Amino acid sequence: MTPAETAGESTAIAREAEPTTEEREAALEAIAAEVRACTKCRLAETRTRAVPGEGRADTEVVFVGEGPGQTEDQQGRPFVGRAGDLLVKLLSTLGWRRQEVFITNIVKCRPPGNRDPEPDEIAACVPYLQRQLEVLDPAVVATLGRFSMGHFRPGERITQIHGTTAPVAPLTGARDAVSFALFHPAAALRSTDVERQSFEDIAGLPAVLRTARARRTQASALQAATRKPAPGSEEKPDMPIPRGLDPEAPAFDDAPTLF
Ligand code: URA
Ligand code: SF4
Repeated sequence: MTPAETAGESTAIAREAEPTTEEREAALEAIAAEVRACTKCRLAETRTRAVPGEGRADTEVVFVGEGPGQTEDQQGRPFVGRAGDLLVKLLSTLGWRRQEVFITNIVKCRPPGNRDPEPDEIAACVPYLQRQLEVLDPAVVATLGRFSMGHFRPGERITQIHGTTAPVAPLTGARDAVSFALFHPAAALRSTDVERQSFEDIAGLPAVLRTARARRTQASALQAATRKPAPGSEEKPDMPIPRGLDPEAPAFDDAPTLF
């Protein structure tokens, strides 16, 4: 039972409500605890620490990398090595900090010697990512590198689609998001050309977020406008016109902001 139901509030209203930040934090911590103890694939045998991911529970933007490297494996935190330093630098060009987004990976344990994750390891681990995305409900999923891109945009080539967006399939856990394909920062560390393109690509992220946010605002406004009153609930006659359908209303001034 949700806390609202235990408190005896109208369940019709309570079910529509967004989870609180504290509820999201608790749900993410429960997933993280499972990840830290997980032995569902062979990567458990060679890892030092599993790396569930970290960041703001109420963020609009989630970054998904490939898998922990050596530093991450030692610290149990994502993107804290050289690739992480570059990711932080990329974010800083937008005026964003890593604490303002959520950062995780396709596989939560380090593949030995930083080899590519195997398909069966990815298959074993993605349910954790799916659950994280269900809790986070982001507007944008920024994929870092081809393994992450391959999960959200299968069959594409990173060299062709970097810097572009596509709607995310709700089966991934993100129910109303767009994905934004970025190169892996480790690839940018190996090639100045990829590094330059990474800085160009990330500059597009604020506009991607604005568009994704507008889509979501519009979708929930339409939903609210067409929703049948739940049995027992009372539609108030003086309810304001849902934002997004009211041509007079400023569009997004009450949306959570990152910048
Ligand atoms: N590379 C990744 O893909 N993820 C990390 O967490 C660190 C480096
Ligand atoms: Fe479990 Fe994922 Fe680690 Fe495999 S990589 S042991 S599935 S947490």
